[in-house]
Amino acid sequence: MPGHKYTRETITQVTHWVPQKLFSFRVTRPAGFSFVAGQFARLGLPADDAPGAAPEIWRAYSMVSAPQHDMLEFYSIVVPGGQFTPRLARLAAGDAIYVDQSAFGFLTLDRFEPGGNLWLIATGTGLSAYLSLLQDPNTWLLFDRIILVHGVRQAAELAYRKQILDWVANGPPCPQAKSLAKLAYLPIATRETLDHTPRERITTLIASGQLETLAGCALDPAKSKVMLCGNPDMLLEARKLLSERGFAVGRRGSPGNLALENYW
Ligand SMILES: Cc1cc2nc3c(=O)[nH]c(=O)nc-3n(C[C@H](O)[C@H](O)[C@H](O)COP(=O)(O)OP(=O)(O)OC[C@H]3O[C@@H](n4cnc5c(N)ncnc54)[C@H](O)[C@@H]3O)c2cc1C
Ligand SMILES: NC(=O)c1ccc[n+]([C@@H]2O[C@H](COP(=O)([O-])OP(=O)(O)OC[C@H]3O[C@@H](n4cnc5c(N)ncnc54)[C@H](OP(=O)(O)O)[C@@H]3O)[C@@H](O)[C@H]2O)c1
Repeated sequence: MPGHKYTRETITQVTHWVPQKLFSFRVTRPAGFSFVAGQFARLGLPADDAPGAAPEIWRAYSMVSAPQHDMLEFYSIVVPGGQFTPRLARLAAGDAIYVDQSAFGFLTLDRFEPGGNLWLIATGTGLSAYLSLLQDPNTWLLFDRIILVHGVRQAAELAYRKQILDWVANGPPCPQAKSLAKLAYLPIATRETLDHTPRERITTLIASGQLETLAGCALDPAKSKVMLCGNPDMLLEARKLLSERGFAVGRRGSPGNLALENYW
């Protein structure tokens, strides 16, 4: 749209994972929209449903799709009474959505020195950013092992589980990165019992050392890089636990071994 810092795009596909709670959608990719895996876009909707009204409500959304894809994919919660998500959840293929021209965010691999093990730890929709990273060949080329930990309330909220299990079994979705890093996937539910993982919060599992046992790999600050994404309370508590073990966010000129993204 001439004169605007955003473009009007079209929703091409919607998938409902958990009715009234979790859905994903694809959007036409704006011409010239570039991003690095792990970054987020700003999506806009008009304040009311009047056709052609300008976007007034904007929210951050991590890309699920990878930089090489020709569309953008997002994964969203529905917050009851929220200003944005109940309206977003009503959209269907063919409807319009607005996308800010710039991508933002620092939950990206350039925060870390390459090598060692990459821990991707998320609650809820915090998984989004990691799905983009896992579809980027670089992620599989830069690390020896990748451990994806996804904490949710109920098993049904383990969205994208089939795709992830396929990557665990058959390697990355990018042929040029075949047979490099190995992926471990630890789905964790707190309000339902799963077969292979305990019914505990991720933070409890970090504190007890059980997360390392489940992953078969130590959370050693000399060999591990950790990303945390999702619920800000989880981030706060996990950051404290990891800081006590020697994990720290990088500073200008000195890469760290911890990176975080709060979703609210
Ligand atoms: C960098 C960044 C990236 C984000 N990426 C995503 C994403 O990929 N998918 C996504 O669904 N949301 C994402 N969010 C959150 C998103 O921007 C909105 O907050 C969310 O869509 C809710 O909008 P709302 O207007 O309906 O409710 P809001 O008024 O924005 O939020 C109301 C309350 O809902 C809860 N809430 C908000 N977002 C979430 C969430 N994702 N999961 C659980 N509870 C939540 C919080 O308690 C919050 O205070 C991201 C936020 C940031 C800052
Ligand atoms: N649940 C519903 O039926 C429902 C329906 C529609 C919409 N919603 C909306 O969904 C939102 C919640 O979304 P969500 O379930 O994806 O997110 P969430 O509340 O962040 O829960 C996701 C996971 O994070 C865990 N967690 C929460 N706080 C933590 C902490 N401090 N440390 C470690 N782990 C922590 C939760 O464990 P615990 O289970 O122990 O908290 C759960 O396993 C609500 O705000 C509501 O608006 C909920």
